Amino acid sequence: MAILLTGGMGFIGSHTAVELIKEGYEVIIADNLSNSSKKVLERIETITGVKPLFYEIDVAVKEDVMKVFEENEVQGVVHFAGYKSVPESTRIPLAYYRNNLDTALSVLEVMKEKNCKTFVFSSSATVYGDKNKAPFNEEMPTSTSTNAYGNTKLMIEQIVRDFAASWEELSAILLRYFNPIGAHPSGLIGEAPDGIPNNLMPYITQTAVGVREYLGVFGTDYDTPDGTGVRDFIHVVDLARGHVAAINYALKTQGVEAINLGTGKGNSVLEVVSTFEKANDLKIPVKLLPRRPGDIATSFALADKAKKLLGWKAELTLFDMCKDSWNWQKNNPKGYED
Ligand code: UFG
Repeated sequence: MAILLTGGMGFIGSHTAVELIKEGYEVIIADNLSNSSKKVLERIETITGVKPLFYEIDVAVKEDVMKVFEENEVQGVVHFAGYKSVPESTRIPLAYYRNNLDTALSVLEVMKEKNCKTFVFSSSATVYGDKNKAPFNEEMPTSTSTNAYGNTKLMIEQIVRDFAASWEELSAILLRYFNPIGAHPSGLIGEAPDGIPNNLMPYITQTAVGVREYLGVFGTDYDTPDGTGVRDFIHVVDLARGHVAAINYALKTQGVEAINLGTGKGNSVLEVVSTFEKANDLKIPVKLLPRRPGDIATSFALADKAKKLLGWKAELTLFDMCKDSWNWQKNNPKGYED
């Protein structure tokens, strides 16, 4: 019996593989390596002593997913496979709809055909939109986004709900991630964006390592304590443990639940920069810039539902996140490239 991680070679998927293996689960990874490196597999083995079974397939191709199910006893699926860049999704929206919807649909179809009843989905806090006020709780209305990436997350949540309504035995968890940063404390796996990073922490670490000249801070006039954006930064290892808790829960239940994975606490962009500087004894040159289109002022979770249903809460601090992000970047200045 195994848990299949689609997109399991990526940032969140690889950390989840490690935590599932530590919990005694057998892990299978299916990934087309479109935005990840094959080296992740050996790194997972170095950390855990176990090399997951790996299928280099495109999860959008249903026959290929079927093959994984034919050759293994798949007990549950954590579905990470999908494109994830917000700005790219505004340039090539159709590619985002095609890939993100196809990957989800092929996995769900195969699960139904093979009677696999446990599904955990990589959703995002982006589904709360810009009308709700933080802390975001799971009962709040969701809304469409200004970008195709966010809309695919919302659509897949709906697809899963409709599917669950038609199949009573399905157990599905929609995990709404806040802002995952940090890296495994070993420094062996971490976030390795292709090209110029869109997200805050990889931009900070690339500035620290000298690949970028300075960090642009997008917006200093938000209605927040210091004027910069506030987000709920969560350590990727905590987030990965949240997936283990979600799988444990989903294997025992039926129905659909949306669950936030956040710390319940917001920190500003400038607080992240100063904590990073303190944690690593470094200086990050910053340039204050205008707001980035599409950003909201404040986003943080109400994290009570995860505690109540899954018995999970985030344990690691922003200081830990900053230390571990830098440890990963300084040991791997070019990510997984040599
Ligand atoms: N920021 C900067 N400079 C940068 C990058 C980011 O100042 O170079 C700021 C942003 O303006 C924002 C904060 O840092 O205020 C966080 O930005 P990120 O891009 O790291 O994260 P977002 O909150 O914009 O997006 C994240 C995920 C998305 C997800 C969204 C949901 O990356 O996948 O949360 O809330 F959709």
